[in-house]
Amino acid sequence: MKESWRKDNFESYLYHSVEKAINDHNWKEQILYSLKAGGKRFRPALSYLCGETLSMKQEPLYSIGSAIELLHTASLIHDDLPEIDDDDYRRGQLSHHKQYDHGTAVVAGDYIFFLAFDFITNLNHSKLIKYFIQSSKDLAYGEYLDIIMEDKSSVSPKALLEMYEFKTAKLIEFSITAPSVLSNQPQQHIQKLKRAGQMLGIAFQILDDLKGIEGTFEKIGKTPGKDLINGKKTIPSLLGIESARKIVNEKKEKCILELESIKDIDGNDYCNVINYLQSVWKNIVTA
Ligand code: IPE
Ligand code: IPE
Ligand code: MG
Ligand code: MG
Repeated sequence: MKESWRKDNFESYLYHSVEKAINDHNWKEQILYSLKAGGKRFRPALSYLCGETLSMKQEPLYSIGSAIELLHTASLIHDDLPEIDDDDYRRGQLSHHKQYDHGTAVVAGDYIFFLAFDFITNLNHSKLIKYFIQSSKDLAYGEYLDIIMEDKSSVSPKALLEMYEFKTAKLIEFSITAPSVLSNQPQQHIQKLKRAGQMLGIAFQILDDLKGIEGTFEKIGKTPGKDLINGKKTIPSLLGIESARKIVNEKKEKCILELESIKDIDGNDYCNVINYLQSVWKNIVTA
């Protein structure tokens, strides 16, 4: 199997591009604080491997990956704020507002969001730009749904899954689909990737919920049990751990079937993406 995704190479590209875009030393330090703290880079890896399946070059795939990782990191800085999830730790270190302060966490998050748009607009593809804007708006809407759900006395699994679709799955869908949009693949191909991304995104969020319950600080880099402390409704808290695990596996398998079916319509074989998914899943604590 040809496996050319290199997390370290991608990170060097990302850090270098961001470093050269900022002059102010202290500001640069803040912008790079959460970005350099690590993270699985799950979304950029997906984009890269999907683009490689379509024989795309490295540079545009790194640009897409950077935009996604920046958007994701900014959303986490805001997500950890006291008014949202009130999390003191992220990626194994103090969250941005704890390391610096609340105000700079807000504006650093904003700045990182806009940096993400630099990377996407540089690719000069209007459909891709519109798709990225829509995915960003969807993510923010998902965070809104999450916040307002905290005040509701009861929430249905359906409403919860709709919130997951927006806050998490839309960006994972974009990660899988963006290379096919940039390389102008046929609609049928794009639609299949979108469905695969949606399934994967839901599975990934429920897995994150499970890791929050069962993981340790060393493994997840954030405070375990935080959803329980915050009284947050999640799929495991609503349906139980076993049912949640079952949904994760079902959605992941559906995602893989969708990816496999693309081969039959136009010969593109997403086996490297599937292999990556299987290997990542194996390393996740609750899987
Ligand atoms: C955490 O995402 C937030 C979710 C949407 C579930 P990741 O689990 O990808 O976090 P990092 O990037 O590895 O820190
Ligand atoms: C994060 O959701 C999704 C975002 C869009 C930021 P969570 O609040 O469930 O993720 P963690 O557990 O803080 O990483
Ligand atoms: Mg949250
Ligand atoms: Mg959170």
